Amino acid sequence: VKKLIIKGGQLLEGEVHISGSKNSALPIICASLLCQEFVKLFNCPDIEDVNRLLDILRELHVDIKREADYIEINSHSLKNIAINSANVSKLRASYYLMGVYLALFNHVQINMPGGCDLGSRPIDLHLKAFRLLNGKCEVNYDQVLIDSKKLKGNKIFFEIPSVGATINAMLASVFIEGKTIIENAAKEPEIIDVANFLNKMGANITGAGSCIIEINGVKRLKGTEYYVMSDRIEAGTYALMAAGRGKEVDIVNFNHKYNNGFIAKLIESNVKFKILDNKIKILSSKDILPLNLKTGYYPGFPTDLQQIYLALLTQAKGISKVQDSIYKSRFKNCYELNKMGARIIVDENVATIYGPHHLNGAEVTATDLRGGASLVLAGLMAEGTTTILNPEHIFRGYSGILEKIRKINGNITIA
Ligand code: EPZ
Repeated sequence: VKKLIIKGGQLLEGEVHISGSKNSALPIICASLLCQEFVKLFNCPDIEDVNRLLDILRELHVDIKREADYIEINSHSLKNIAINSANVSKLRASYYLMGVYLALFNHVQINMPGGCDLGSRPIDLHLKAFRLLNGKCEVNYDQVLIDSKKLKGNKIFFEIPSVGATINAMLASVFIEGKTIIENAAKEPEIIDVANFLNKMGANITGAGSCIIEINGVKRLKGTEYYVMSDRIEAGTYALMAAGRGKEVDIVNFNHKYNNGFIAKLIESNVKFKILDNKIKILSSKDILPLNLKTGYYPGFPTDLQQIYLALLTQAKGISKVQDSIYKSRFKNCYELNKMGARIIVDENVATIYGPHHLNGAEVTATDLRGGASLVLAGLMAEGTTTILNPEHIFRGYSGILEKIRKINGNITIA
C-alpha cells in the first residue's frame, strides 16, 4: 500500500503548469462516442479517473490511443451492451454514458455510478431529464435500465443546477429532432467546454454557461479534434499551496475569468497575488486573515476548493467559518487536520476553524480527492514529516502532483 511522505517547511517557488480539466475531460471523452468516428483530444489530464473511464470504453469496444495528455478515440465499433465494468462503481462520471447510449441506442443498462464519498449523491435529476425526454427509467439494486421507443424534445427544469444532470441532458438530446430546453441549468465553465466540443462535432447547442440551454437536434455528428480547458480546481489547489508556504509561485494556465469567486476570497483573506494574462503569481503571504466561506453553485465559491481553503485557514489570524451548502458531509478531512494540531470544530455542514494553529507532521489518511489535497497543503505548511495514507484518492484528480510540487521546491515522495 502506497503512502505520500511530505517534509514541511520548504519555501515554495517557481512555476506550476496546470493540466486539462478533469471535470471537462471526463464528459468530453464520453461525448466523443456520439460521432462514432475519429476524435483527437488534447490537454486531457493524465489522472486515474481518465484512465478508468478509458478502461470502461475499451470494454465497450472503443479504439483508444493515448500518449500522456493526448487521446485518440474511435468509436466506430461501439457496442450496445450492458455497461457493467467494475470501474463504473469507482467513477461517478461514468454516468455520462447514460446520456450517450440513450442518444445512440435509445437504450442503456449501466451499474450505479460511484465516486468520492461526500455523502449521498443521488442521480434523480439525471433520471428526471431522461423521463422528460420519453425514456422509461428503472433502478433495481445497483443497476439503471433506461429504454425509449423514440426520444422526444421537451422542457427540463432542474430544481438544483446539477453539473452532471445538465451535461447528461445535453448529451441525450443532441439527435432529438426539434428543440430541447434545459432551465435552471448549471453554469460551470466545464459545461461550456462540453457544449463547445459537441458543437465542433456538429451539434446545435446555445446558451451553455447561462441558466437556459437550448439544444436543436441534428442528424449526426462528425469526428473532430479539441483542446480541453485547463483545470480551475487544480489551479486553485496550487494557488492555495503557494499562499500557505510560498515565497513566489506562478500558476500557469490560470483562467481568471472562471475564478472570480476564488479570487474574491483570496483578496478577503489577504493573500498577496498578481494576475497576468494566463497566470496568477502568488506572493509570500504572511498575515492570512480569517474568512467566512460559503460554497455555492457557479459562479459561487466552488465546493471542490473549500476543503483545501480550509487547510490554509488553520493559519489565519482569527476564527473562520466554512459552510458547504452543496455537500453536507465534505468535512472528513478536518479530523485529519486536527491530528496535525489544527483546531477545527465541525457541526453539521459548518466547520469553525480557530487560527493560527502551528501544524506538526503526523500520519493522516486521505478520505477523498480534495480532502487528500488539503492534507498535502497542510503537510507542506507543517513542521516535520507528514505521511498521507490512501493517496490513490489524490491521484484520481491531480496529474503529476509529485513532479509539480518538487518543481516548486516542495519535499514530497511516495513510499
Ligand atoms: C460535479 O459533480 C463534479 N464532478 C464534482 O467534482 C463537483 O463537486 C460537483 O460537480 C459540484 O460542482 C464531476 O464533474 C465529475 P452536481 P456532480 O450534480 O455533477 C445534488 C471533484 O472533486 N444532486 O452538480 O455529481 C448533489 O447531491 C468532484 O472533482 C441531486 O440531488 O455534482 C449535490 O448536492 C467532487 N440529484 C448537488 O446536487 C442529482 O441527480 C450538486 O451536484 C444530481 C445531483
